[in-house]
Amino acid sequence: MSHVINRRSWLRSAGLVTAGLGFSRWQEAKAEFIPESVVAEQRLFGEFAQLNSLPPDTMPALKARLFANENPYGISTSAKEALNKATAIGNRYAWMEFAQLKTMIAQAEGVTAKNILITPGSSDVLMAGAAYYSQKGPILTCRPTYDDLLERATAMKGQILTVPATAGLSYDLAALKAKALSTPGLSMVYIVNPNNPTGTIVPPAELAQFCRDVAPTVPVFIDEAYIDFLEPADRPMLGKLIADGLDVILARTFSKIHGFAGLRLGYVMAQPKTLQLLKPFTNGEFAVSITTLMGGIASYQDQAWQTYCRTENTKARDYTMKALKGLGYEPIPSYANFILFPIKMKTKAFEGQMFGQGVGIQTREIDRQPYCRVSIGTQAEMETFIDAFKKVVG
Ligand SMILES: Cc1ncc(COP(=O)(O)O)c(C=O)c1O
Repeated sequence: MSHVINRRSWLRSAGLVTAGLGFSRWQEAKAEFIPESVVAEQRLFGEFAQLNSLPPDTMPALKARLFANENPYGISTSAKEALNKATAIGNRYAWMEFAQLKTMIAQAEGVTAKNILITPGSSDVLMAGAAYYSQKGPILTCRPTYDDLLERATAMKGQILTVPATAGLSYDLAALKAKALSTPGLSMVYIVNPNNPTGTIVPPAELAQFCRDVAPTVPVFIDEAYIDFLEPADRPMLGKLIADGLDVILARTFSKIHGFAGLRLGYVMAQPKTLQLLKPFTNGEFAVSITTLMGGIASYQDQAWQTYCRTENTKARDYTMKALKGLGYEPIPSYANFILFPIKMKTKAFEGQMFGQGVGIQTREIDRQPYCRVSIGTQAEMETFIDAFKKVVG
């Protein structure tokens, strides 16, 4: 199939081969470097097998892996201990653990356990949302945003409607509201806050008001994968809207602040009746292992670890913003663990040359302008990124 991109052809298209950077240079390779866009494509077309059958020496050992918005600090010590403990009872189905995690989340978010469904990462509920709502009517959103749900909905012959983003590439809530309330038959409004790839947020009070105005007419689905990077006082805390009975759906993940991207844990909060509608399209709660659940319960309680990851992320992000500005670039103010900024090179050439320097990033074009999206790694990784960036852009 012509749309299939494997690592080797992707490397080639990214300019690594033409840049004379042979695969043998990366024989000690450990890092996976599949851009999210490629992952999404592979996931949609079921071509993972092709990726995985490639010889391991086609993967570069990156000095800084900054393309997938992962947590560079790993998982907390308490979560590791809980994971180890859980392996001893891996022969048992999880049971009380689901209730335990839900009770903790419900208390923190001001909802009840009946408003929560545990998922293996938040992608599961994004895919369920795509499957359910795409069949009911058009989905409304703002682009650029995280495209997984939208691409799946499109693949299922659903219709996506958009309103333009603001000049600062933020969600335009006023335009969304006007369109949501004037378009008959909409199935859902999809908002990512903080948004990916832009890192922007919408003001919490405005988002809450938006939900109060729109959700009585059209369900509002908010993907809050990066919400934990906001200081607790700055979070919109939209659970109260769910407690008030509004049809608001909040997708959360442990992949980011908790560092569980590979362990796969997330949850969704919504009205019990909305959860019942979405559930048949998810993989079901038993898709989450007892190991991951017990690790997640420990991590959820480990406030010190979450604060540490958030604080370090802010410091390394501030450093990177300042360094980029010092080099004459204009990064978009970010509230997440990545930064988007316009570049002055073609996307593939830039991406290829950065990988050639051992730094994995993502690129994309927005309104014909090439952009780099760099995830926030450790301070040392961000210094490596800036050094590589200086070499590449001259
Ligand atoms: C905005 C957003 N939502 C959801 C996800 C899915 O993450 P996961 O399935 O690991 O929870 C991601 C992953 O990067 C993301 O950026």
